[in-house]
Amino acid sequence: MSKILVSKRVYPEAVEFLRKDFEVDYEGTDAGLTTEALIERAKGCDAIVSQLTDKLNAEILSQLEGIKVIANVAVGFDNIDVPAATERGILVTNTPGVLTETTADFAFTLLMATARRIPEGHAFVHSGEWKTWLIDLLAGQDIHGATLGLFGLGRIGAAVARRAKGFGMRILYNDAQPAPAALEHELDARFVSKDELLRDSDFVSLHVPLTPETRHFIGAAELARMKPTAILINTARGPVVDEVALADALEKRLIWAAGLDVFEREPQVEAKLLSLQNVVLAPHIASASVATRRRMSMMAAENAAAALKGERPANLLNP
Ligand code: DGY
Repeated sequence: MSKILVSKRVYPEAVEFLRKDFEVDYEGTDAGLTTEALIERAKGCDAIVSQLTDKLNAEILSQLEGIKVIANVAVGFDNIDVPAATERGILVTNTPGVLTETTADFAFTLLMATARRIPEGHAFVHSGEWKTWLIDLLAGQDIHGATLGLFGLGRIGAAVARRAKGFGMRILYNDAQPAPAALEHELDARFVSKDELLRDSDFVSLHVPLTPETRHFIGAAELARMKPTAILINTARGPVVDEVALADALEKRLIWAAGLDVFEREPQVEAKLLSLQNVVLAPHIASASVATRRRMSMMAAENAAAALKGERPANLLNP
């Protein structure tokens, strides 16, 4: 019987599903496994159901003898060196599609919470500081009619654009390639250069994967090109933004605010960001609705099961 290592707690139905056909070594904790423990526990296993906290680089993959498939419980897979896995004949899968709408809901929620200063308002009421109605009390930025610049018009970027359309926003985007004309037409989205997007957007929202090309895609130079009233939203991956440069830009009010769900060294957050009022922080929860996280757990289990049964997994990443 094939054996599967599940490296960290998932929704229980995924483990029940796997136990029907496989032996399962389930690390059902929130801490998950250290790299050393993962390598040790993977001995004698055929598959790993991994999470984005498992860093599976080429060196670690070389120590996972016998592993035939890695099923990541995430759409992002920058935690896995897929070319190195391919070289070793290891199949790698992810969980696309199922989290698109939930993540887009959250990106828009973060945009609105940041623009309209919801966390500051909540803290203000709670602390008893609220004494009277004031003409400029926690005055924010308008969302309706504003220009939204999307870096990345893939599944999630397009889903954010659909929400923005409902708010009467003008939509600009930049991507490696222009989107198909039908999608541009549906979203009323215009392809522009990176510089034009930074210059003209009231909100800049990031929806690109983390690759060597997108690491620090937004740094000091890009932040300096944005409007002083602009808001940056990141629900993609932390290292896409240079966090030190962002904290500096927010402190100097080079941009107005930022809403961040992802960070360069999760769960650590740049100290300066924690001390600023004009940033809304969330702990990497954009896809965290109960239904979506359940579905992600099941999808990863289904991918692992299919691969071990000799079928082509639905969400294969290897070329
Ligand atoms: C992903 O799936 O890549 C998200 O970051 C976590 O849901």
